[in-house]
Amino acid sequence: MKLPLVELHLHIEGTLEPELLFELAERNAVTLPWASLDELRAQYDFADLQSFLDLYYRALDVVRERIDFADLTRAYLARARTAGVRHAEIFFDPQAHTSRGVPLGTALAGVRDALDRSVDEWGITTKLIVTFLRDRPADEALQILREILADGVAIDGIGLDSAEVGYPPALFTEVFDLARAHGLRLVAHAGEEGPPDYVWQALDLLGVERIDHGIRSLEDEALLDRLVRDRVPLTVCPFSNVRLRVIDTLADHPIVRMLDRGLLACINSDDPAYFGGYIDDNLAALDAEFDLGPDRLALLARNGIEASFLTPAEKAALLDEVETWLTARREPASGPATAIRSS
Ligand code: ADE
Ligand code: ZN
Repeated sequence: MKLPLVELHLHIEGTLEPELLFELAERNAVTLPWASLDELRAQYDFADLQSFLDLYYRALDVVRERIDFADLTRAYLARARTAGVRHAEIFFDPQAHTSRGVPLGTALAGVRDALDRSVDEWGITTKLIVTFLRDRPADEALQILREILADGVAIDGIGLDSAEVGYPPALFTEVFDLARAHGLRLVAHAGEEGPPDYVWQALDLLGVERIDHGIRSLEDEALLDRLVRDRVPLTVCPFSNVRLRVIDTLADHPIVRMLDRGLLACINSDDPAYFGGYIDDNLAALDAEFDLGPDRLALLARNGIEASFLTPAEKAALLDEVETWLTARREPASGPATAIRSS
């Protein structure tokens, strides 16, 4: 049995693997600036968030038709299934597509095609969270949200992402107010590169229910008290933090400190095609680095379940499975030794 996982911080655009990128380039007759897979992979050496985003948006040039969006989403779900993911709350960046002439409806329909079959095909329940690019005007986000609501496309929530510093959550209050009025769930990237004040703003001005990343909250004790008191989840992405140089090495990652401080932190992959691995790879690397062991791995899995937008009954069912997994690990005679990947 695999540890049942929930993934809450995953940009579908960040799952575009080099092989699929080349396949879509051929399908859509797009001329790429990279001559080979190796030449493309050589670009995956990022100085910071912006240098990553430049490549992330550029690579999307190959994703054009409804079927491309469905194929991208299906490829993620297939890989997530092997990781033990049972529920995924997936981010989708409309403006990364509309800004290059792809109609919103085309992109969203393709993603929905794959999500609507996800339970049957992969045994993975999903939610769809539309994320707005904070380095573009709030009015544009508002317009797109209105369009989605008018078209009746099934989305579950909204979020905020892209270049953080200089684009505080306060700019987006109207967008989040509209989403809240329509019963959508609310999340935002904050405290990735930006200061703890952006986490405060996301909580107090946008009313978000989860903070994506939030790693810089560790610089503010009063903020930590608030996050612990209100059990505000932080969707932490260790490989991303290393690759985008938020921290120097995985050994410097504060995840254990975060858990010990009582934060509701869970592990996620962010943009796995670019950062060296999926959610299971992140957990396995943390286990190897910090010797987490079954108890803390189970804690991280439980935190993800609690932090999700699943119903209490759905959460209870997954939590039961985590306990079953843990029991097998505590009685090693009846269970395999490998913590994450054993089936
Ligand atoms: N978009 C995709 N990945 C992101 C990240 N790590 N931070 C902000 N925006 C993103
Ligand atoms: Zn992210």
